Amino acid sequence: MGFLDRLFGKQTKEEETVTNEKLNIGIILGSTRQGRVSPQVGEWVKGIADKRTDANYEIVDIADFNLPFLGTTDGSEPGIGAWNEKLANLDGFVFIVQEYNHSITGALKNALDFAREAWNNKAAGIVSYGSTGGARAAEHLRGICGELKIADVRTHPTLSLFTDFVNGSEFKPQDLHLDNVNAMLGEVEQWSKALKTVR
Ligand SMILES: Cc1cc2nc3c(=O)[nH]c(=O)nc-3n(C[C@H](O)[C@H](O)[C@H](O)COP(=O)(O)O)c2cc1C
Repeated sequence: MGFLDRLFGKQTKEEETVTNEKLNIGIILGSTRQGRVSPQVGEWVKGIADKRTDANYEIVDIADFNLPFLGTTDGSEPGIGAWNEKLANLDGFVFIVQEYNHSITGALKNALDFAREAWNNKAAGIVSYGSTGGARAAEHLRGICGELKIADVRTHPTLSLFTDFVNGSEFKPQDLHLDNVNAMLGEVEQWSKALKTVR
């Protein structure tokens, strides 16, 4: 391919293949607590995401991997390898984040710590909830994303325990969040696609 082709943005065959493949994006449930509401929130986001066309979305439940607490075992648990393999096969993430003591859950932090390269140069969106929309937890997560080379997008749907849940347990999201979720997903798809070329 000539200099002028490159100058005008023409892609090589290899670049075309990489950027035209459908994206795989994981919706990661951040809590593992019995009685948690995160599956309801994750399914709602997936329902919105599944109407889009540029990516395959799947729920990724940290609880399914039975991760031990980092460093307390010899590391031979099959869930550790399975967790890394799952992340390695994803191009981007949507973190479902709940606020625990003004931060993310220990389970999500542990799961973040259990991988490194599998997170690198990928994009992520955050959907959070709590008494103040989970904003403090989400901001903590953004700091961690920087260290793991995860590009977290700006648009951030925040759900309130008071107005988007009944009795703090039954999820009844207000319609106003729909546009925000779609805007966030659009940003995740754009950046996930762009970062494929970096990887
Ligand atoms: C240990 C713990 C600490 C919590 N701390 C906060 C907090 O600091 N701020 C807040 O808004 N909600 C807090 N909550 C309320 C949770 O955000 C709420 O229970 C939410 O449903 C938890 O998500 P989950 O059901 O998916 O686990 C806390 C809950 C737990 C269990």
